[in-house]
Amino acid sequence: MSTAGQVIKCKAAVAWESGKPLSIEDVEVAPPKVHEVRIKIVATGVCHTDWEYLYETGKGMKFRPFPLVLGHEAAGEVESVGPEVTDFSPGDKVIPLFLPQCQQCERCLSSKTNLCRKNWANTQVGVLADGTSRISCNGQQVYQFLGVSSFSQYTVVPDTSLAKIRADAPLHKVCLLGCGVSTGYGAAVNTGKVEKDSSCAVFGLGAVGLAAIMGCQISRAKRIIGVDINPDKFEKAKMFGATEFVNPREHSKNIQDVLVEMTDGGVDFAFECVGSPAVMTSALESTTDAWGLCVIVGWTETEAMNVVVEKILMGRTLKGTYFGGWKSVQDVPKLVDDYMNKKLKLDEFITHKLPLDQINKAFELLKLGTSIRTVISLWPEKANPEMAS
Ligand code: APR
Ligand code: ZN
Repeated sequence: MSTAGQVIKCKAAVAWESGKPLSIEDVEVAPPKVHEVRIKIVATGVCHTDWEYLYETGKGMKFRPFPLVLGHEAAGEVESVGPEVTDFSPGDKVIPLFLPQCQQCERCLSSKTNLCRKNWANTQVGVLADGTSRISCNGQQVYQFLGVSSFSQYTVVPDTSLAKIRADAPLHKVCLLGCGVSTGYGAAVNTGKVEKDSSCAVFGLGAVGLAAIMGCQISRAKRIIGVDINPDKFEKAKMFGATEFVNPREHSKNIQDVLVEMTDGGVDFAFECVGSPAVMTSALESTTDAWGLCVIVGWTETEAMNVVVEKILMGRTLKGTYFGGWKSVQDVPKLVDDYMNKKLKLDEFITHKLPLDQINKAFELLKLGTSIRTVISLWPEKANPEMAS
């Protein structure tokens, strides 16, 4: 029976307040309005940023309204479309996007950036274009994290924040292309434009850093130095192409001095994939003068980088990247193709799979550093056999 046009009752993990674990609730998801699409989420990754907004809001992270459904790294299927939606139909496989691509604004028409601002002001505060959310719980509005909210069996997103992907894509794998993997990989290949035979340092070996390493390897960098304070991450990094490792805790000197010494003057490319102000400074200072490029990938909303001007004056470049520089609607389907054609790794990032009702465990694993990515199945396994593989 079609659910189009009706309110759908389903399960979601709701964040009632900052600093408290999520709770599984019965929520109501309203039908999509004009230029919106309602999707059934099949699988979602749990990203560092979800954790930060739950546990760090108010502690350095900007205030976001609660209650909130987190989750922004997901894949699913279109359930129904609102008026004036032309690019999607029920049954289409899709990846929701926290970064839109309207394909009409000045930025979308420019090759210099992927930062489309369509719906930006409202999705940043958890609502869609009309100023309200489509999710509610016992009559109370529940905000949508970054306009997505993938920790819910159904959600509604703008049609400019959705990528249609090939029908044979395994959703419980390609969900990772909704954030972390695309971000780290794109930081290396789009923003950094890592060169053949270059030397690279990647700070932080979570999913984002490992994906940056994968990008450095695909770009045929000669030296790829993984930097992490957790030595358990090194084995995995090797699988993605790291050639060397440094644990800052094993050195009495600054990590940047260690890297400068190892590379006889500094690396060509450095990627900060931690989100730590101190590490950002180290990453910049680990690059060589004349042409060193430091790309900031990790997210922080606190002030950072006490830069010695001379470092920049001597020819270094400092750049930021958001969603790896990918133009989301057009590029995510191509990244899915790259995975299907075995150019990109995704399976190797997935260390754990859990059902929705164990989502708090996924946060614990992330914080303990024992997981790279946990993929959450939104549906019981028999309703969702794909998750078993
Ligand atoms: N130096 C080096 N590595 C560090 C340091 C440090 N001082 N502090 C933490 N790390 C390592 C952690 O041990 C961990 O392996 O950084 C890694 C971060 O990985 P995850 O927590 O799994 O985070 P990830 O999802 O990869 O995201 C990284 O990118 O998108 C942003 O918000 C996200 O800022 C976060 C960053
Ligand atoms: Zn745009």
